[in-house]
Amino acid sequence: MAKMEVKTSLLDDMIGVGDMVLLEPLNEDSFINNLKKRFDHNEVYTYIGSVVISINPYRSLPIYTPEKVEEYRNRNFYELSPHIFALSDEAYRSLRDQDKDQCILITGESGAGKTEASKLVMSYVAAVCGKGAEVNQVKEQLLQSNPVLEAFGNAKTVRNDNSSRFGKYMDIEFDFKGDPLGGVISNYLLEKSRVVKQPRGERNFHIFYQILSGASEDFLCKLKLERDFSRYNYLGLDSAKVNGVDDAANFRTVRNAMQIVGFMDHETQSVFEVVAAVLKLGNIEFKPESRVNGLDESKIKDKNELKEICELTGIDQSVLERAFSFRTVEAKQEKVSTTLNVAQAYYARDALAKNLYSRLFSWLVTRINESIKAQTKVRKKVMGVLDIYGFEIFEDNSFEQFIINYCNEKLQQIFIELTLKEEQEEYIREGIEWTHIEYFNNAIICDLIENNQTGILAMLDEECLRPGTVTDDTFLEKLNQVCATHQHFESRMSKCSRFLNDTSLPHSCFRIQHYAGKVMYQVEGFVDKNNDLLYRDLSQAMWKASHSLIKALFPEGNPAKINLKRPPTAGSQFKASVATLMKNLQTKNPNYIRCIKPNDKKAAHIFNDALVCHQIRYLGLLENVRVRRAGYAFRQAYEPCLERYKMLCKQTWPHWRGPARAGVEVLFNELEIPEEEFSFGRSKIFIRNPRTLFKLEDLRKQRLEDLATLIEKIYRGWKCRTRFLLMKKSQIVIASWYRRYAQQKKYQKIKSSAIIVQSYIRGWKARKLLRELKHQKRCNEAATIIAAYWHGTQARRELRRLKEEARNKHAIAVIWAYWLGYKVRREYRKFFRANAGRKIYEFTLQRLMQKYFLEMKNKMPSLSPIDKNWPVRPYLFLDSTHKELKRIFHLWRCKKYRDQFTDQQKLIYEEKLEASELFKDKKALYPASVGQPFQGAYLEISKNPKYKKLKDAVDEKIIIAEVVNKINRANGKATSRIFLLTKNNVLLADQKSGNIKSEVPLGDVTKVSMSSQNDGFFAVHLKEGSGAAGKGDFLLSSDHLIEMATKLYRTTLSQTKQKLNIEISDEFLVQFRQDKVCVKFIQGSQKNGNIPTCKRKNNRLLEVAVP
Ligand SMILES: Nc1ncnc2c1ncn2[C@@H]1O[C@H](COP(=O)(O)OP(=O)(O)OP(=O)(O)O)[C@@H](O)[C@H]1O
Ligand SMILES: [Mg+2]
Repeated sequence: MAKMEVKTSLLDDMIGVGDMVLLEPLNEDSFINNLKKRFDHNEVYTYIGSVVISINPYRSLPIYTPEKVEEYRNRNFYELSPHIFALSDEAYRSLRDQDKDQCILITGESGAGKTEASKLVMSYVAAVCGKGAEVNQVKEQLLQSNPVLEAFGNAKTVRNDNSSRFGKYMDIEFDFKGDPLGGVISNYLLEKSRVVKQPRGERNFHIFYQILSGASEDFLCKLKLERDFSRYNYLGLDSAKVNGVDDAANFRTVRNAMQIVGFMDHETQSVFEVVAAVLKLGNIEFKPESRVNGLDESKIKDKNELKEICELTGIDQSVLERAFSFRTVEAKQEKVSTTLNVAQAYYARDALAKNLYSRLFSWLVTRINESIKAQTKVRKKVMGVLDIYGFEIFEDNSFEQFIINYCNEKLQQIFIELTLKEEQEEYIREGIEWTHIEYFNNAIICDLIENNQTGILAMLDEECLRPGTVTDDTFLEKLNQVCATHQHFESRMSKCSRFLNDTSLPHSCFRIQHYAGKVMYQVEGFVDKNNDLLYRDLSQAMWKASHSLIKALFPEGNPAKINLKRPPTAGSQFKASVATLMKNLQTKNPNYIRCIKPNDKKAAHIFNDALVCHQIRYLGLLENVRVRRAGYAFRQAYEPCLERYKMLCKQTWPHWRGPARAGVEVLFNELEIPEEEFSFGRSKIFIRNPRTLFKLEDLRKQRLEDLATLIEKIYRGWKCRTRFLLMKKSQIVIASWYRRYAQQKKYQKIKSSAIIVQSYIRGWKARKLLRELKHQKRCNEAATIIAAYWHGTQARRELRRLKEEARNKHAIAVIWAYWLGYKVRREYRKFFRANAGRKIYEFTLQRLMQKYFLEMKNKMPSLSPIDKNWPVRPYLFLDSTHKELKRIFHLWRCKKYRDQFTDQQKLIYEEKLEASELFKDKKALYPASVGQPFQGAYLEISKNPKYKKLKDAVDEKIIIAEVVNKINRANGKATSRIFLLTKNNVLLADQKSGNIKSEVPLGDVTKVSMSSQNDGFFAVHLKEGSGAAGKGDFLLSSDHLIEMATKLYRTTLSQTKQKLNIEISDEFLVQFRQDKVCVKFIQGSQKNGNIPTCKRKNNRLLEVAVP
């Protein structure tokens, strides 16, 4: 399955075609349309085989994020959609894994995005290569060299706000692991004319503006600069500000970058001092001065600026002033000094500024190289990144454009050579026949420029070295002669009549048909620029500076090292360095990024077909595709090809066991692809027509769908089967577990049953045994018992026998005794008959009585009268005696007891006895009263002050003082009264006040009536006609009825010598005034507890309910 993932995504879901090789039909329109379509969908990269076409989007796209880096990391080139990262990754991996040095050639016209592309390549490589503190520092230094060089070497042009005004080739060096070690930067021909003059709408190098905008006041002051751009002649004013560019911020970035790269503080300071000096040089102005000998001289207008420059650079002011006024020419030990006129002075000033700046730039590159130089001497792998100024066609093209375009021509040349060579080599490698393909080879143009004899550069050098007057016109003349026949050279004055009437071609110009189009060069300045002349006086003045950097920049100014040989011309220098570069590039594996500018407006979303078409043409991209497709449009190694299409053939699907090539052969045969459509190389299959490839793709897509269904089907089947098998397996497991469990249960049941049965059997056996044993034992015991019984029987029989014997013996003895007795009695009867019986009887009786009394003496009960104990009668005949004895004893002890009484006690007991006689067995209340001592004075009248009056009224001894209830005769209700009994009277007094209510002499009391029941009611009947009887009898109730009645009886008896009549009856009559009322006692409910209730029923009846 994993292998299936290898996908050539270039073929999957592409907008247009990702690789132009697959474009069908292939022509300019379809090419542009494809680019446009992709551009419109934000796809700015497209391949031509391994070449990346990059269209400048002019806006930031989200395709350079760290996630994207990860996406492209270690992926095959064609695996993902076209990207500069894919190319970078391919180059880096090829370098790391196959040990091939790489170069990345970025070409395209100004503003096409070369510099950005180079930075993207560098940042990608930095992101994917090794990590670690040291490696990271190297990476950081390599990356930070860019802002420094861009600040000093880039400028805003009409084409590009950040146009590289120098060529740059950077070798990044890696160790065997692919970790970066360092780098080397080569720079090519800085466009130094920009320092002193910029075309309209363009700016000087960024650094000037950055210093003025970003440096602190303090720093500016140190540099003797002012912030105002307009103060400086060298700064083009019309576009000093660039939209979207923050010069001040960039200045900080540059300083920071310089610090990271390793510039010391004093070095940075020196660099900015030089920049300031250059800027200030522009402000030196000259005025003409006529000498006596008629020679023109010039003079510095305002020396202030000169003074400041000298202070900055540490040059003697007079030396510099002189250098601006004189020119010394040395030849053969002869020194000739001539004065400079104003124009020459300006020329000298500008030459100095340009040289100072360009040398500073070269010094910067050297200084950066020093920092980023690899520290080890181990063998290095190299990845070169070439970002050279793009092909330029301006209105006025001068020497610089000529040089730049020459360089681009060379790059195109190497591109053609390498692509074709590579293509050819591949065919040869793969053993495929090579068919020649027509394409434009620009070698002829390169030759026009660089040919050692007839080349334009050679002509220019020749002119420059030629003695005599040399002007740009003489140079053009020479060109017109030498190059007239060259088909890519055009000039009005040439011998070739073709251009005689070409008015678009001015006389002072020549035109070259570059691979990228025709460019007309103004010949003016060519000679000077090629000479690149700096008057010796100036270089010597510079060397004399105390500013060490400036001194180092002008080594030729040292008089000791004076060299009379002409320095090499700019053209030849450039040619040489381009030649070195080309040689260098040829040793490396090339990777191409062809940058295309979609519009001239630096605007996003605009795709100018004509502009793009032009670039495609001169970049030879169509030829590139054609060459790539020469013979075969598409090639692929056998393995990935088989992997991709193997599903189209039964033999190869799903696995092909044999070699991949054989598999592809089988596959293609099976698919019946016409033989002329493909070719088998050694390691690759070559497909002639994109159509075939697309057909394959279509088939694949369809087949993939079928396969997806199949896979789905199989997967579903597999899933169901697996599930089924799992369920089955589970079921078996469950069943086995269940069976095991059931068997276990069964076994346990059987086991326990067996144990039970066993235990029963054992029990039964044991019992049987026990029974047997018991039986045996019983038998034994029985035998013993029987024996014992037997013995017993025997013994008893024997005993009986013996007893019988003994009894017989005794009987005999008794009988014998009786007989003897009888005989004796018969014998002695005659002597005792008269009194013997009686005497014996009495004696015996006496003896018994004696014994009885003696025993009684010992058994006597206690002396307590209430002790009921009495010994048991021993003999029946003493029954009456015994009873009599008991009675006597009791009486005796009662007497004994009475004898102990005091008189008081005697009286009490007499009273109690009296009460007993009166009430015992008559009144139910009586038994309860036996235990209560008779107290008489319940109310202590004498002690209670309340009753003082009562006490005083009664002077007799009080026998009873007690509270009684007097029953109201009318309604039966009770009222408390004090009942007093004295020796002679009965008194009733009010309980509260103690006032005497009634007083009855005892003689007037005739009778006392009461019920037989358990109540305390009693009636005191009075003698009819007595004084107290007026109100009638008293019906009273008292808690101490028995006591009261007894005492009343006794007192009456003692006073009147008459027994008071006490009537005990449940119905008696009471005299109430005139009426006689019957008081009737009935058995009542226990509603009111134990208190009897009294109710008047009618005139004649008062009912007392006794509970
Ligand atoms: N990949 C990109 N994504 C977004 N913007 C880009 C990209 N490439 C280029 N640009 C924009 O285009 C401008 C010009 O690009 P760049 O400086 O790389 O051009 P160049 O080819 O180096 O031109 P020159 O030859 O003048 O140096 C950049 O400043 C940037 O604004
Ligand atoms: Mg650039």
